[in-house]
Parts: sequence; structure tokens; C-alpha cells
Amino acid sequence: MPEKPKIALFQCRWCLYAPADQEWVDTQLPENIHLTKTPCTGRINPLYVLNAVQGGADGVMISGCLPEQCHFKTGNMAARRQLEEFNDFLDYIGYDKQRVRFVWLDLQDRGIIQKQLAAFEQELDDLGPASNLVTRVKVAEGGQNA
Ligand code: FES
Repeated sequence: MPEKPKIALFQCRWCLYAPADQEWVDTQLPENIHLTKTPCTGRINPLYVLNAVQGGADGVMISGCLPEQCHFKTGNMAARRQLEEFNDFLDYIGYDKQRVRFVWLDLQDRGIIQKQLAAFEQELDDLGPASNLVTRVKVAEGGQNA
């Protein structure tokens, strides 16, 4: 059976309003999805995304509050601007733009995160693995990087 695409999920801790959705994300995420919770999407440093890409993520999903509902007023707007620009850079160096997905969630969006992740996983599956930016560190005997 082929390996599922690896997804790095950055989730604003406020964006999932339904406790059942947050519970699912906290406890039942499939093994191919790595969760990082943040206080707001505005706190996601582009270097975190780069680290995920270099660590082997086939895709990155950023889940946050709707623009007008950010707990920090404009955190998500700043994040969108900064991370979309960074996404352009990633695309330029060979990490297809489609591999980074922004999802903005609202009170009515119960159960949407599962569907968004499943659809994203399918799209990544179609794109195939993204291994060209993976950083491999060779560790020599004695624990020193070679
Ligand atoms: Fe959720 Fe800012 S608090 S995106």
C-alpha cells in the first residue's frame, strides 16, 4: 500500500469552535498528519513552515479564524499576507504552491476540518511526494554531523 502524504497542520487554537472537532484533531489525527497548535496564525513564523517542508512534509495546512474573528484582531491577516508571500518563495524554489493550503474556519464550520484535510490529502496524493527540498543530515559515528 502506498504511503500517505505527510501533512504539517498548523492550527490556531481558537479556530475550531466545536469541542468535538478539537477533540478529533487532538486525539484522532491520522499518523501522516503532524499537528502544531499556535495561539494565532499570526504567530506562525515562515521558518516553521520551511522547517516542515525541509523535514519532509508533502503539504502544509494552516488553519485559522476568519479574518474578522481573529482573537488578536489582525493576526490572521498578517499571517495570510506574510505566509502567502512565503508560499510564492517556496513555489519559486520548487515546492508547488498547491502544497500550502490556508483554511479559515467559522462557528458554522463544524466537521469541516476533517473534510478539508481529506480533500487536501487527496490533492497531495495526486501531486505525488515532495522530496526535493528535504534536508538530510548525515550523522557520523560519535554523533557529529558530517
Ligand atoms: Fe485564530 Fe488569530 S486567533 S487566527
